[in-house]
Amino acid sequence: MSTQRKTLVLGGTVYLSQAIAKHAVARGHHVTVASRGSSGEPPEGVEFVRLDRSTGEGLDALRGKEFDAVFDVARLPALIGPVLDALADNAGHWSFVSTISVYKHFDVVSDELHEPTAADSTDPALEVYGASKIACENLVRERLGDKALITRPGLIVGPGDRNDRLGYWPLRFAEGGEVLVPGPKERPVQWIDVDDYAAWLLDAAEAQVSGTMDAIGAPLGFGAFLDGIADALIEHGVLTERPNLTWTPQEFLLEQGVNPWAGPDSFGMWVPTPDYDGHQSRPTDQAVAAGFRASPLGDTVKRWWDANAGAPRLKAGLSRKKEGEVLAAWHDEPVDADLAELDAKRAFAVPKPETPAYDG
Ligand SMILES: NC(=O)c1ccc[n+]([C@@H]2O[C@H](COP(=O)([O-])OP(=O)(O)OC[C@H]3O[C@@H](n4cnc5c(N)ncnc54)[C@H](OP(=O)(O)O)[C@@H]3O)[C@@H](O)[C@H]2O)c1
Repeated sequence: MSTQRKTLVLGGTVYLSQAIAKHAVARGHHVTVASRGSSGEPPEGVEFVRLDRSTGEGLDALRGKEFDAVFDVARLPALIGPVLDALADNAGHWSFVSTISVYKHFDVVSDELHEPTAADSTDPALEVYGASKIACENLVRERLGDKALITRPGLIVGPGDRNDRLGYWPLRFAEGGEVLVPGPKERPVQWIDVDDYAAWLLDAAEAQVSGTMDAIGAPLGFGAFLDGIADALIEHGVLTERPNLTWTPQEFLLEQGVNPWAGPDSFGMWVPTPDYDGHQSRPTDQAVAAGFRASPLGDTVKRWWDANAGAPRLKAGLSRKKEGEVLAAWHDEPVDADLAELDAKRAFAVPKPETPAYDG
C-alpha cells in the first residue's frame, strides 16, 4: 500500500503557495495544485486542477477527495466556504495562511483584532484586508477545529517575491556611492523567509500542529539588518567593500517626503518608530515551539539575490534623483546635476506613483 502523502495546495502558482507546492514535491508527496493558473505556472511534478473559486468552476474535480494536508492562502472569505464544503470532511490537516494585518494596533504588541468582515465578503479593498483574513480564519477554525493551523505572517521575503521590498537594499548597495539610510539603527525589523515558511508549514502539517500563531523571525535592529545584507553581498562576491551608508533621522526623511514600507519614494521594510514598533516586534515563541526555524539573514539575501536580482520587481525604493536630493539637503549642499542620468542607467526601476503600494 502506498504511503505517499497527498497534499493539496489551493493557489500554488505564485510565491508562497508555489514554494509550498515545490517543497512538497521535493519531499515526495503527491501534490495537487488548484487555481486558475493565471498568476503563474504550477510547479513541475504536480497534478494541476484548474479551479476558479470565485465561480466554483472546477471544484467538482476535488469534491470529496481525501488529502493528508490542505494549504490555503485565500484573502476573501467568500472563497473559503465552498472549498471547506467540498474538502474539509476528508482533510487530515488544514493550514491557512493569514497575516499580521489582522491586529488592530501596530504601535504595541497586542493581540486585539479588527472586527471581521461578513463571512461571505468579496471586498478586495486593502482597508479590509486584515478584517477579511479574520473572517477567513474563523471559517477555517469553526470547520476544522483541532485539525486547523492558522499562521499569521509578517513580511515574507525571498526567491519569487513579486514585491521585492527587501530587494531595494541589496540592489542599491550594489550600485555603490553614498547610500541614504533611515535611522534609528535600533528600530526593529522582522521578516519570514519564504522557503523557511514553506518548509515549516509542511513539517507542521505532518506533525498535526494546530492553533493560531504569528509566523515571523526574531526582530533585528535596522542597523544590524543592513549590515547583514552588506556582509552577505560581500560573501557572495557582489560587493568588494562595505557600502558607504549615511544614517539620517526618520523625522528628517519624513519631512523630505520619503515614504515608509513600500511604494514610490519609499524605503523597503522601513516603518516609523514608535508607531510600528509592535508591527515589527511580533512574538516568535509559539512558532519556534511549533518547529519554525529561521535561516540566517545572509542565506536569505543570497537566495534572493540569485533568484530575483536579475529581474527585480520592486515596489519600494528611491530613485537616484530623489536620494541625491535628500542627501544634498542633509549635507546642505547643492544637488548633483547628473542624478537623473544615474537613474537612466539603472539596472532596476523603483515604483512609479501609480504602483499599488501594498501586497501581503
Ligand atoms: N507577501 C507578503 O509579504 C505577505 C505578508 C503577510 C501575509 N501574506 C499572505 O501570504 C499569502 C501569500 O500567498 P501567495 O504568495 O501564494 O500569493 P497570493 O497572491 O496570495 O496567491 C494567491 C493564489 O491563489 C490563487 N487564486 C487567486 N484567486 C483565485 C481564484 N479565484 N480561484 C482559484 N485560485 C485563485 C492564485 O492563483 P491563480 O491566480 O493562478 O488562480 C495564487 O496561486 C497570502 O495569504 C497573503 O495574504 C503575504
